[in-house]
Amino acid sequence: GAIVGQQPFGGGRHSAYLKGSKEREELLAALEKHGGKTEDIPIVIGSEEIRTDNIHFQVCPFDHQKKIAKFYYANEEVIKKAVKISQEVRQRWERVPLNEKCKIFLKAADLMATKYRMDLNAATMLGQAKTIIQAEIDAAAELIDFFRFNAFFAKELTKYQPLSPKPAETLNTMRYRGIEGFIAAITPFNFTAIAGNLPSAPALMGNVVLWKPSDTAILSNYIVFKAMREAGIPAGVINFIPADGPVFGNTITSCPDLAGINFTGSVATFQHLWKQVGENFSIYKNIPRMIGECGGKNYHLVHPSADPDTVAVATIRSAFEYCGQKCSACSRMYIAQSIWPQVKEKMLKILKDVKVGPPMDFEVFMSAVIDDRAFKRIKGYIDHAGTSTSLTVIAGGSCDNSTGYYVQPTVIETTDPLDRIMKEEIFGPVLTVYAFPDDKADEILQLIADSVPYGLTGSVFSQDEEYAKRATEELKMTAGNFYVNDKSTGSVVGQQPFGGGRISGTNDKAGGPHYILRWTSPQAVKETF
Ligand code: SER
Repeated sequence: GAIVGQQPFGGGRHSAYLKGSKEREELLAALEKHGGKTEDIPIVIGSEEIRTDNIHFQVCPFDHQKKIAKFYYANEEVIKKAVKISQEVRQRWERVPLNEKCKIFLKAADLMATKYRMDLNAATMLGQAKTIIQAEIDAAAELIDFFRFNAFFAKELTKYQPLSPKPAETLNTMRYRGIEGFIAAITPFNFTAIAGNLPSAPALMGNVVLWKPSDTAILSNYIVFKAMREAGIPAGVINFIPADGPVFGNTITSCPDLAGINFTGSVATFQHLWKQVGENFSIYKNIPRMIGECGGKNYHLVHPSADPDTVAVATIRSAFEYCGQKCSACSRMYIAQSIWPQVKEKMLKILKDVKVGPPMDFEVFMSAVIDDRAFKRIKGYIDHAGTSTSLTVIAGGSCDNSTGYYVQPTVIETTDPLDRIMKEEIFGPVLTVYAFPDDKADEILQLIADSVPYGLTGSVFSQDEEYAKRATEELKMTAGNFYVNDKSTGSVVGQQPFGGGRISGTNDKAGGPHYILRWTSPQAVKETF
């Protein structure tokens, strides 16, 4: 998938969707199709569609009376049935040659790039409230990139074979087996691409998967699932299992066949899953692989030498595109006092003109946050700013959930760099700024490094190369993805493999070459004749 050109503040427009274009017509038709009905989405286990009496709906975050999908929670019995069926297909799937598996996933990528492109965009816009550009870079670009790059890396990396110093007598080979058991993929709402990558990467390497999609991304995720099935992934290799989080977690972690969890979501949930796996450690046939990408408290650091325009644009984009709900979104900025007034003026000017509204309006820059729980959490931080003497709201600050879960892009200035708003993950369109004295540009590095337990993304803006280098070194452990003079969001598959350390995750780098190796259990074979 090509990474499309972007026009940051002209709303969600991008060149392919200008008036009169074929893409625009197709997208409008897809929006009408998916927006005009409530799609019935079953649990799919093997080739069986299952509907339980535990019924749920996916609503449009920007119009919460509108139901776009009806779905069903799997209970314990249904999840156990999925485990059983997946184990029946596992051996057959594991024996399919890697090249064949790659062909299937590449075909799925082609289907998603063509036949399903507009369905995926529309479902991501309606269900996850992404603007067209944010949907396109996610469901039409990054998603397809994951499938294509994983297939490419799988072929490249499995070419590695150990040395055979005397091949005429002894041959050493490495067989890249799948892992016995099943992998549970627990996926987030915020990227259709991540939701697609988490079950498909293990499946590509010969594993079978129980996929629990997010309740708030059911429609787009089901389209990804359908595309994979249509491309030829056999029934039962990936099973689509919407479920209550704790019921799913309890059931899979108490199952001896659990071979791994591929997770993206909150730190608290991942920690809980680890605990459950730890408590059940003795029951497992394989030690479960725990791969997680969790939260962040990502930052922009701005040196006096930085270019104010670059900083203003990058910060608005990082903090507010997709309502700050990218794992990588900037939510704290440390900026030198001498440059802050200029940057502030530019940021406030941009924010005055950005449009917030439903994503079907292609001029919109930002839409609603994902659900009521997110709305209340984010509003809580804004209310905290309203009552604290060290915090001043300088832009936005208003919240309205009467029709959709709207939070205006909010900028808060703080005189206390250790206020909890500078330390806790908000996962919403709230940026807090601390302006530091210019002569404290070195001390600030220590503060950034030590003040939060996260380590996902961060950026330094500086035209002074020496400072940029020093910051890069001193802040080494604060971010798995680090940027010099660019925003902290927008990693590209194959170019900036994504993931963080500390409590932000196991840093297995989705979109990088080694990610797929985590989903194999290689066997070294020595043959002597
Ligand atoms: N890859 C995304 C980004 O960098 C986050 O998941 O914004």
